[in-house]
Amino acid sequence: MSTKVEYELVEAAIDARNCALAQFSKFCVGAALEAEDGTVYTGCNIESAAYELTMCAERVTIWKALSEGARRFKRLAVVADTERLTPPCGACRQIIWEFCGDIPVTLANLRGETETLQMADLLPRPFDAQFLEETGNAG
Ligand code: THU
Repeated sequence: MSTKVEYELVEAAIDARNCALAQFSKFCVGAALEAEDGTVYTGCNIESAAYELTMCAERVTIWKALSEGARRFKRLAVVADTERLTPPCGACRQIIWEFCGDIPVTLANLRGETETLQMADLLPRPFDAQFLEETGNAG
């Protein structure tokens, strides 16, 4: 674990994970997102009996932060109870990139193991607003 802020963010994600509604997969995930002003937003995965309506911890967290007015973010932590650290799924990578940009994402497990990756490495060659703009396809 490299910095105190990183550690605190992982702790917040671990707490959020305890609220996971993962009754179908039993795979509980927590996330914590630090906004530019230092506010930390948290979320957990929420599963639906109509499985495809399930929402990942990362997106729950981002929707919470955006809906409370936050717009600029510094870092994200994602925690699951896996030996191999759990990375964000493809849909979450898209949303993290679009709304948080090239932030560091700390993956962590319950044994205190962590790895921090940049979003640009997790989502190379993104499709985003800038791409639409640059290709003359922005409304
Ligand atoms: N899940 C997350 O919340 N985040 C991830 O990064 C990976 C997957 C959730 C979705 C679903 O509730 C469960 O984990 C199994 O896929």
